[in-house]
Amino acid sequence: MKKVFLLLSLLFSLEAKYLDTQTCKECHEDIHYEHTQSMHHKSSLFKDEVHAKVKNAVNKNKYSCALCHMPGSSNLRALMKGEEQPNKNDKRQLDGVSCYYCHQIKDVYHSKKYNINISSAKDGIKPTMYANLVDPDDSDKHKAASNEIYKNSMVCMGCHSHKQNNLGFEVCRTQKKEVPQSDCIKCHMPKADGGNEKFNKKGRTEYATHRFLGVHSPEMVKKAVKIDLEYDKETQQLDVTITNMMGHYIITHPMRLKFVQTYIKRDGKIIWQNFEKSPLEDKEATFIIVLQNKNAEATLPNQAVGYKINQNLEAKATKIIHYKVPKLQKGDEVFSKWVSYIVNPKIAKKLQITTPEIIEPIIGVEESLYIY
Ligand code: HEC
Ligand code: HEC
Ligand code: HEC
Ligand code: HEC
Ligand code: HEC
Repeated sequence: MKKVFLLLSLLFSLEAKYLDTQTCKECHEDIHYEHTQSMHHKSSLFKDEVHAKVKNAVNKNKYSCALCHMPGSSNLRALMKGEEQPNKNDKRQLDGVSCYYCHQIKDVYHSKKYNINISSAKDGIKPTMYANLVDPDDSDKHKAASNEIYKNSMVCMGCHSHKQNNLGFEVCRTQKKEVPQSDCIKCHMPKADGGNEKFNKKGRTEYATHRFLGVHSPEMVKKAVKIDLEYDKETQQLDVTITNMMGHYIITHPMRLKFVQTYIKRDGKIIWQNFEKSPLEDKEATFIIVLQNKNAEATLPNQAVGYKINQNLEAKATKIIHYKVPKLQKGDEVFSKWVSYIVNPKIAKKLQITTPEIIEPIIGVEESLYIY
């Protein structure tokens, strides 16, 4: 931790002038609107109920999470150490992962505990916004420059790569260690028609959108996996093939629960299903990470020293589950669907999270197979 703080104090010029998110709206209206709907804007403990409740369960006093959830705070270090408390009247804190913060990241420093963003923010000079435009136009507010990390998605890895807790256990990871980051920007910032700025003097025809849809979006959850069904009459075997279509593990965060539910219908009645009450009855079709503490009990990330359950699937990987099912006949139909919980119902209950959009399951792809 000491080393990280040393880096923070060296690399962040926290006193530098800060342009809050509202000030970008004047020119970048559409992007501003998209961003304010995104989880980046809602990442602070003032706007994300789930984050706030986990934070309070972990540590009421210190806010070490601020490093990624409220990175633009001027008193980041004091918040992380618990010397100061979050303040809901401070725009830099309310802005969460803000426009200004993201676009001032010059480089990403790799560290074992978690990566660190290196900011270019400096006091007293017109700020430079980095991104990926060819020949950016001039603006009164800021200079603009292109930077490779906004093209190869390295800019995402300052917060999204991996994280160790204070016990040295890695509680989340987006991708395998050996592989370079996938093209996050391509999937999470799809292009839309129009310019990025209201005067659009450069006559641009498309811009990178900023909603950063993910696990909260039914539209995105539909794209998470592909399911294929195959039944073999000879062996009475049903094969359910699950392919991870994303650029990362299916489970990137231990709050989630995702699974495939499969059942067979004959004359409108269910004659077989892969589980009755809990998806965990069929571990192979369930994607979940349950962390355990030193007494081998299920625990929150801060106390974890290992996995109690680790059912995950790498980027682009495929898994085939074989089921022995009753002999199927003409007219029978097999159904399979992807079910995704933002918060595992067990954890939601424990933390008393009640917002319906957060605790209800999101249904992804649905496949069916008619037996001839
Ligand atoms: C007074 C108008 C104005 C304001 C306010 C403004 N910008 Fe810009 N911005 C521009 C113009 C003009 C461009 C160039 C657009 C082009 O070339 O298509 C631009 C380009 C950018 C780029 C692209 C840089 C590149 O090289 O690819 C980023 C990123 C950006 N602005 C971020 C911001 C952020 C963050 C804020 C708020 C803190 C902000 N802007 C406020 C006018 C503005
Ligand atoms: C999580 C980091 C992040 C946040 C937050 C963010 N941006 Fe961006 N922005 C990017 C990246 C990465 C690109 C480059 C995408 C590309 O070129 O495909 C980009 C591109 C842009 C561009 C150029 C778009 C184009 O394709 O013409 C503008 C302008 C811009 N951002 C402004 C803003 C403003 C204004 C906000 C807040 C309202 C904001 N950004 C918030 C990461 C971010
Ligand atoms: C190294 C950066 C980093 C740190 C430090 C960090 N987080 Fe996060 N957190 C993230 C990222 C990135 C995500 C989005 C991950 C995902 O969805 O896969 C996230 C997501 C979450 C979520 C899920 C939110 C949701 O909307 O469902 C919770 C809860 C959470 N973090 C809690 C915490 C708590 C509590 C702390 C401090 C004890 C913390 N985080 C520290 C980067 C971080
Ligand atoms: C400064 C840290 C930071 C950077 C840089 C960053 N993110 Fe995030 N991102 C977060 C945090 C924190 C969350 C979780 C917010 C929450 O749920 O409370 C998040 C959430 C997300 C989500 C999940 C949305 C959802 O619905 O659950 C996606 C997708 C995402 N980020 C993609 C990206 C991409 C792509 C980039 C690079 C262009 C990027 N992020 C850069 C911190 C960051
Ligand atoms: C091939 C497309 C694709 C690529 C590449 C990709 N993602 Fe995703 N990602 C998705 C889809 C689809 C979802 C939504 C489904 C889900 O969350 O289960 C998602 C979900 C997420 C989430 C929310 C996951 C959760 O459970 O909280 C985060 C955070 C995220 N992506 C970040 C990233 C980052 C960072 C990168 C680059 C390293 C990246 N993504 C690359 C398609 C992609």
